[in-house]
Amino acid sequence: MLHKEINKHRPRVHFSPKANWINDPNGMAYFEGEYHLFFQYNPKDTVWGPMHWGHAVSKDMIEWEELDIALFPDHLGQIFSGSAVVDWHNTTGFFPEKPGLVAIFTHHLPGVNGERDVQTQSLAYSHDRGRTWVKYEGNPVLTDPDLVDFRDPKVFWDPPRKRWIMVLATGQSVRFYSSQNLKDWQFESKFGDDVGYQAAVWECPDLFELPIEGTNQKKWTLFVSVGDNPQYNVGSKTHYFVGDFDGTTFVPDHKDIRWLDHGKDNYAGVSFSDIPTSDGRRIYMAWMSNWRYANQVPTAGWRGQMTFPRQLSLQTVDGEDVLKQSPVKEIEQHAQSVQTIEKKMIKSSESHQIELNGISMAIDLTFNITNTETFTLAFIDREEQPIIVKVNGATQEVTLQRQYNDKEDIPALFNQPQLMSIGTDSELNLRFILDASSIELFADDGLSVLTSLIYPNQPYQKLVITSEKGNLEIITGQISIL
Ligand code: FRU
Repeated sequence: MLHKEINKHRPRVHFSPKANWINDPNGMAYFEGEYHLFFQYNPKDTVWGPMHWGHAVSKDMIEWEELDIALFPDHLGQIFSGSAVVDWHNTTGFFPEKPGLVAIFTHHLPGVNGERDVQTQSLAYSHDRGRTWVKYEGNPVLTDPDLVDFRDPKVFWDPPRKRWIMVLATGQSVRFYSSQNLKDWQFESKFGDDVGYQAAVWECPDLFELPIEGTNQKKWTLFVSVGDNPQYNVGSKTHYFVGDFDGTTFVPDHKDIRWLDHGKDNYAGVSFSDIPTSDGRRIYMAWMSNWRYANQVPTAGWRGQMTFPRQLSLQTVDGEDVLKQSPVKEIEQHAQSVQTIEKKMIKSSESHQIELNGISMAIDLTFNITNTETFTLAFIDREEQPIIVKVNGATQEVTLQRQYNDKEDIPALFNQPQLMSIGTDSELNLRFILDASSIELFADDGLSVLTSLIYPNQPYQKLVITSEKGNLEIITGQISIL
């Protein structure tokens, strides 16, 4: 494989594997000064296949060092998604000397001769900061012969009740279990009948408390990813619920479906465990792809990457607590140079061009859109194949249109416009993180987010902002080369 081909779409500030296939982030945890990222990994091919847990570590969640494979398939099956926790109090008995990491994952045993697949939950532990792992001899620790889709355990310590809680995807629902030692699990409750997005199997749940900005209050937030049902024009997508959790039952505050992201490429997102309370942040990353076309995207030698890490909080908007996401603050230390964009009035049907001098960058723009009906931001490469972001101030919508001009077939969903609603303020803030093959847009201070893969043949060289109807003012702007 030509070096050039391998690196053509290689992200600079997003995790991607040196070679071969990845999907979901797994076992994300902070321990002894390192952020750990494990991931669904097929070490033999650039398409999905027998799953292992790959492993990478980072000091800032932006620059990752890929390490050896952490977990290999065994007689109980392949290693599907799951989580990791630090067992601070040796509840498991695995750590008589000092605390260490425990991975809680799904063993997936494919059915043979027409028999159905078997999914069970298992443990592995590490005494050397995740470098090597021992599988627990009592595996599996949780089984249910009645459930075929029984996977993706996310475990956290529940301090008030002094026990571990697991949230598990179980068909088109999630179930909660509790444990004192991670080995013996008790069923607590089921959530998902008649609520949420029910078009396909539920996967990769996560449950955590988030602060409500501007208050001393907190609320529980439940993430649930929903697989791809080919009958619908949606692809795989993640939604979330905000509500209360009493250690046994989760009760949502709302009935409406709330998408985590309005782009097509944010799936299986879960949060880091064990970020110290002195830091206090809740941060997640997701797989930046979509099951509809993940196996076909045009990278060479490797396939799959993660979103930029995002800090989460809740904000009360019109009486509802809604999710807010922002790129982690570590992005600031990562900036190699910062360019200020001058205040500028762009008259109706005129354009303003901004040079882009890098491959990965953060672009932050605040507009006054009082007198603007529609305007576009076109990221243009040397071959003039733009990615166009269109803002319609009248309908309060942002549309992102990507182009895919490769000869290879890719499912139609890839080329369909991605749409997101924005707030009604006269000031509009758009924050982009642009990398070699992705664009992440945070609008309205992170209340609306759109994540999309892109595959330009050349890096983008300019950003052309055109006011299609009405006068548009750039109030402030900044580009940081990352
Ligand atoms: C989600 C998922 C999980 C499963 C894993 C297999 O993308 O389907 O439910 O554990 O991928 O790779």
